[in-house]
Amino acid sequence: MDWNGHIAIVTGAASGIGAGIAECFAEAGAEVVVADINERLGAQVTADLRARYGKGLFVKTDVSQAADCRRLMDETLAAYGRIDTLVNNAGVNFVKPTLEMDEADWDRVVDVDMKGTFLCSRYALEAMVARRSGNIINIASVHTVATLPAAAPYAASKGGVDMMTRSMAIEFAPYGIRVNAVSPGLTDTQIWADLQEAAEDAEQARQHWMDNIPLGRVQAPREVGNVVLFLASEQSSYVTGANIFTDGGMTAQLINRERFASKPVEGKTPGD
Ligand SMILES: NC(=O)c1ccc[n+]([C@@H]2O[C@H](COP(=O)([O-])OP(=O)(O)OC[C@H]3O[C@@H](n4cnc5c(N)ncnc54)[C@H](O)[C@@H]3O)[C@@H](O)[C@H]2O)c1
Repeated sequence: MDWNGHIAIVTGAASGIGAGIAECFAEAGAEVVVADINERLGAQVTADLRARYGKGLFVKTDVSQAADCRRLMDETLAAYGRIDTLVNNAGVNFVKPTLEMDEADWDRVVDVDMKGTFLCSRYALEAMVARRSGNIINIASVHTVATLPAAAPYAASKGGVDMMTRSMAIEFAPYGIRVNAVSPGLTDTQIWADLQEAAEDAEQARQHWMDNIPLGRVQAPREVGNVVLFLASEQSSYVTGANIFTDGGMTAQLINRERFASKPVEGKTPGD
């Protein structure tokens, strides 16, 4: 696919997965709008993209604020005249026992991860409907199908994003607009660094995660970016309302068979 002249907005692109997605677009030849609440890192990532690929525009954006999301679309349209792809990637992870959580904890996660996805989509869709073409890709998570204790707002948000994806896919299919989700598993970003640092024994924690990932490794942000590019391209022209997992097989696995160490029993499935 020729990405020249393709306009892609990536929210939360100042670090981690978003930065990886932005790099994949710029490297392919697309124009990339880096939208992030973190001005310092956002400007840094954008300067780097400009130096290496001659692409990149930074728009400081808090995706939980409707006015910011509208301004992000306005500034993109002023600079490039249209929006081909919106990647809703900005997100915050949060783990806290439910009984210690207050309303502000809930709002902080849901406002960014779920409401932010809605608000950016809502304002981008105005421009996409007018042109009768466009593409929205929501970065969800393995938490759309399985989750962990003390992750209620995060799991609720990601589950919500999955269903929002399907609803918008149906609503905007008549306009030639596709809406899909990508659900990453463990990805090498600050979240993974924090998880290891928070563990009493970082090596044991790392091994525990690897035991639960059939491919046995953490993925690079660009591996998510490659799936996003596929969904933004003509190669996926009949794909809409989908949730594509890039999780090394994590959600396919019922239990780690090696650890289970049971002998096969004919006619019986372990776990039944
Ligand atoms: N890292 C993983 O293992 C993993 C796994 C599954 C899903 N995800 C999802 O991928 C996405 C990116 O996560 P990451 O691991 O790269 O995290 P990250 O913390 O490295 O990046 C998140 C980015 O979002 C930005 N952001 C936060 N709040 C914002 C707001 N209100 N408005 C605009 N930008 C905001 C941050 O400044 C940051 O640049 C998130 O939606 C996350 O839930 C991550």
